[in-house]
Amino acid sequence: MGENETAWRILPVGDFHIGVETDEEGLHPRYDEYVRDEKDAVERKLTLWRLLTDSINALDLDYVVFLGDNFGKFSEANCEVLKDLFKDLRCPVIGVMGNHDAGQRLADGTWPPDYWLERRKRISEDVFGHDVCAGFDLRGGWRLILLNNATPIARDRYMFTIADEDLSFLESELARGLPCVTVMHVPFRFPKAYATMCHRRIYEKPADQRRLDSIPRQFMYPPMQEKLNALRKKHANWRGNIAGHVHYYACDEEDGFTQWTFPIWPERSDPLRCLDVHDF
Ligand SMILES: [Fe+2]
Ligand SMILES: [Fe+2]
Repeated sequence: MGENETAWRILPVGDFHIGVETDEEGLHPRYDEYVRDEKDAVERKLTLWRLLTDSINALDLDYVVFLGDNFGKFSEANCEVLKDLFKDLRCPVIGVMGNHDAGQRLADGTWPPDYWLERRKRISEDVFGHDVCAGFDLRGGWRLILLNNATPIARDRYMFTIADEDLSFLESELARGLPCVTVMHVPFRFPKAYATMCHRRIYEKPADQRRLDSIPRQFMYPPMQEKLNALRKKHANWRGNIAGHVHYYACDEEDGFTQWTFPIWPERSDPLRCLDVHDF
């Protein structure tokens, strides 16, 4: 491996979840206790981020990369909070959209499709300053490809797909032949360690194990998963993926393809844990 190839480094920031998800009455439909926890957690993470800004600047990063679910509840005020967090950073901040970034769901648990498309465009352009899907050069000749795969399939809030134009974008990036890593909110391959995972505060009690078992293990729409598998076979330069969504820190490597999932920043991980070329 040449010296240049070791050069890039990024800081992934998982599921920041600024703002607390609520229904119209201002209460989370199921978890009052959880909401109170989350309000405290949001304050703590904003404070920690501010304290760590100098340390982040010292990391010699190509990019800080937000992994989606940047908002627990989208609002103009929360948009400003995020932008304010970024203003003292010396490296660019980029990011993908997660399922929580669209805002309020309809009564059946889905989002109005046009609303979703408009909202993710708005956040990408206004908060991160780039297109919804975008490619970025990394030092050493690598490419970082941001893709949105958190587009919900109608009537199923736990099944996601990639819009046709976004898939075309991925194909055109892969066809360039550069070694590359994608960033998608929903894991491209489901992490094996998922069973011990996320929603820790809700599911940690043994009595709640049934609820944990009921969470679908397959989040990508199967026909889309097949398309991605085929693309991966065709393009060996696609070295790996970085994802959030499962709120769990894991690394799975299979067939020369490595996927990292990150927890809610900064839980259960070093908040300054970076990824570089040696991780793929
Ligand atoms: Fe999340
Ligand atoms: Fe998510």
